[in-house]
Amino acid sequence: MSVPETVREIRLARRPQGRPVAADLAVVETPAPKPAAGQVLLRNRWFLLFAGLATLLGETPPGTPFPPIEPGDTLFGPAVGEVVDAPAGSGLRPGDLVVHFRGWREYAVADPAELTPLVEELADPAAHLAPGSVGYGVLTRIAPVRPGDTVLVTGAAGGVGTLAGQTARLLGAGTVIGTTGSPAKAERLRELGYDAVLVDERTGDGPGRAERFARQLAEAAPDGIDLLIDNVGGHQAEAALAAARPGARAALVGVLSGQLGDTPAAHPPLRLDAFQLIIKGVRLVGCGNAGQAEAEAAWRPRFGEWLREGRIAFPHVRVSGLERAPRAFQEMTEGRHFGTVLVELPAE
Ligand SMILES: NC(=O)c1ccc[n+]([C@@H]2O[C@H](COP(=O)([O-])OP(=O)(O)OC[C@H]3O[C@@H](n4cnc5c(N)ncnc54)[C@H](OP(=O)(O)O)[C@@H]3O)[C@@H](O)[C@H]2O)c1
Repeated sequence: MSVPETVREIRLARRPQGRPVAADLAVVETPAPKPAAGQVLLRNRWFLLFAGLATLLGETPPGTPFPPIEPGDTLFGPAVGEVVDAPAGSGLRPGDLVVHFRGWREYAVADPAELTPLVEELADPAAHLAPGSVGYGVLTRIAPVRPGDTVLVTGAAGGVGTLAGQTARLLGAGTVIGTTGSPAKAERLRELGYDAVLVDERTGDGPGRAERFARQLAEAAPDGIDLLIDNVGGHQAEAALAAARPGARAALVGVLSGQLGDTPAAHPPLRLDAFQLIIKGVRLVGCGNAGQAEAEAAWRPRFGEWLREGRIAFPHVRVSGLERAPRAFQEMTEGRHFGTVLVELPAE
C-alpha cells in the first residue's frame, strides 16, 4: 500500500462557545506521519463520533481521563485502522485491522501495545466501535440486572443508550424504559424493544419541563424503577432517582445535558433527596473508565453472537469521508442522528 506525501486530519480550529459546531473544527492537510522505530503505521478505516469529545473541546473539568484538546491539536478517539507497516516481531501484518484511539485522521502511528486486534465473533469491523460495553459493564458487573427489573436508560437514542436498552432486555430485564428529546426517535426506540419512551423535548425548556418529565416517568413506571443507566444527568437523573424503588441501583454513565447543552458546563449539579436514598438503600455508582477494558473484551464477542443470532440491532449512521466529519459531529450534538455515528474512510 503506497502512502501519500500529505494526508488529512481534523484539528480544533477554535474553542467552542457552547455546543460545538462544524466551524470549530478544521480539515488540515499535513505530511504523512512517519513511524518511529518499533511503531506501527495505520490507515484509518472508521472512527467514532462521540459526545464526550464536547467535554474535551471545552473547559475540561478536573479529573477528566483524557487530556484537553487545545486549538491546533488533532482530535482523537476510537478508530479501526488497517496496518500499513508494522515492526518485525509485533505479530502484526499489513492488512490487519486493529482498534486504537487515534481517530479523526487518515493515517496514524501508534505503539503495538496501544492496538487491540478485532475479535472473530464480531464480523463487522466497524461494529467494534459500537459503545455497547458501557451498558454491558453496568448490567453484568457494576449493577447486575436482575430478572424482571424495571430498567430506565436516559439518553436512550444515543450510541450507548440504543445498545444498553436492548442489552438489558437480553439479560433479563422485565420492563425497559428510555428517554429521548425527539418524538420520531421515540418511535424508533419502541421498534428496538423499549416498552415505554419518555419524550423530553429540549424546545420545551423552562418552567415545568422537569415536572412534565417526572409525570411521564410516574405513568410509565408507577411502581418505580430498579435500575437506572443515566447518560443525561440534570432533571432526568433527579426524577429517576426520586422514582427509585427500595434496593434500586443507579449507574451514572454520562452527562449529555451538560455536554450538549447550550452552555459549556459538562458537570451540572444533581439535587438529591439524601433521606429517601438512605431509607430505600439506593446504590449510586459513578461509571468512569475503571473496568472498561474488561467489559469491552467481554462485550465484543457477546455482541457478535447476538448480532449473528439476530437478537440485537446495531443502530448506526455511517458518514462517508473525513471532510464530512465536522458537519456530522455538529449534527450529532444537535441530536439529528440515531444510535452510533461513524465516519467511514475509503479503503485503498
Ligand atoms: N462512563 C463511560 O465509560 C462512558 C463511555 C461512553 C460514553 N459515556 C457518556 O455517555 C453519554 C452518552 O454517550 P453516547 O455515546 O450515547 O452519546 P451520543 O450518541 O453522542 O449522544 C447523542 C445524543 O444525545 C442526545 N442529546 C443531545 N443534546 C442533549 C441534551 N442537551 N440533553 C440530553 N440529551 C441530549 C441526543 O439524543 P435525543 O435527541 O434522543 O435526546 C443525541 O442523539 C455521554 O455523556 C458520554 O460522554 C460514558
